[in-house]
Amino acid sequence: MRRERIVRVARLAAAALGAALLLAALPLRAQQSTATAGAEKQVPDNPAAHMPPAQPLPYSHQTHLALGLECSMCHTNPEPGNLMTFPATSVCMGCHTTVATNKPSIQKLATFAKSGQPIPWVRVYAVTKGVNWTHRKHLDAGVKCETCHGQVADMATMSQTTSVTSMGVCISCHKLNNAPTVCQTCHSWPAN
Ligand code: HEC
Ligand code: HEC
Ligand code: HEC
Ligand code: HEC
Ligand code: HEC
Repeated sequence: MRRERIVRVARLAAAALGAALLLAALPLRAQQSTATAGAEKQVPDNPAAHMPPAQPLPYSHQTHLALGLECSMCHTNPEPGNLMTFPATSVCMGCHTTVATNKPSIQKLATFAKSGQPIPWVRVYAVTKGVNWTHRKHLDAGVKCETCHGQVADMATMSQTTSVTSMGVCISCHKLNNAPTVCQTCHSWPAN
């Protein structure tokens, strides 16, 4: 069956990718564990209740990342690099024109696809308006998605599992990494 084939191919790809990543990550891991030995976690967990918001579709990172998909298949970082994108519905339909088409959630997905409107995902992480934020500088500095967003591959629903949007956390991580901590790094005032 087509669906089984897709899943099998994805699993094989995941296994190959996993092995490659493991090899590539080994020296870095060793390096990191010495560099951060005894240091506090760079981004602490969110101590507040963090219920996932009601989303238009029950999309699960856990289900999809288990297929071996990469973050970059769905989240890119276009110029000027401040924001990440959400996937076009056509990315989903690359599989879901044939996968799980009998499920009500996938029928709803197909309706969104037909409408040509983007899926109205409810946002999970948000930095207070007016604060300077950029993904690009962090990605260029080698900070991993999981450092700021938690173990996404284990999440059946996305919620704000870390406190990455709070000022104290931004500043303490900047201190740990020798990144700038003067107010003007993140605030445009005083304008002069
Ligand atoms: C097949 C597509 C797909 C892949 C692959 C994927 N995502 Fe997502 N991601 C989504 C969709 C759809 C949403 C919106 C729904 C939700 O929040 O669950 C989302 C939402 C998110 C959000 C919440 C953003 C916000 O503030 O609203 C984060 C963080 C995120 N993804 C991180 C990741 C990371 C890290 C990876 C790789 C480990 C990844 N995603 C892989 C499709 C994907
Ligand atoms: C690489 C192929 C692939 C891509 C791309 C993909 N999916 Fe899936 N999706 C699957 C598979 C496989 C399942 C598991 C199907 C099952 O359990 O019957 C699934 C399950 C789902 C389910 C749960 C269906 C149910 O009710 O049980 C939803 C909802 C879903 N996907 C939405 C999406 C959305 C939204 C996107 C785009 C952001 C997307 N998928 C992209 C392969 C994919
Ligand atoms: C240094 C911490 C950090 C790293 C690293 C990071 N993010 Fe984010 N992410 C954030 C913050 C903070 C926000 C909220 C930004 C805002 O208000 O727009 C966010 C928002 C998002 C969003 C919602 C859209 C947007 O840009 O606002 C997605 C999707 C996302 N991140 C995915 C990822 C993925 C995928 C990676 C890895 C490639 C990643 N993030 C790496 C901190 C981070
Ligand atoms: C996981 C650690 C970490 C977290 C969390 C973090 N940062 Fe950073 N930030 C860095 C690193 C590392 C750099 C790169 C410094 C460099 O390139 O010299 C950086 C760079 C920046 C820059 C660019 C500075 C410049 O002048 O080039 C801005 C703006 C910034 N961060 C804002 C924020 C804000 C706002 C938050 C919280 C919402 C935040 N950061 C959270 C580690 C972090
Ligand atoms: C590394 C980034 C970063 C640096 C450096 C930083 N802030 Fe912030 N600041 C933030 C973030 C993020 C918020 C929003 C926090 C929230 O919503 O919980 C914030 C919020 C604030 C607010 C609340 C009002 C507003 O503008 O949203 C004040 C006041 C403030 N910061 C003052 C300062 C002062 C004074 C300094 C210098 C001593 C400073 N900040 C340095 C990231 C930073």
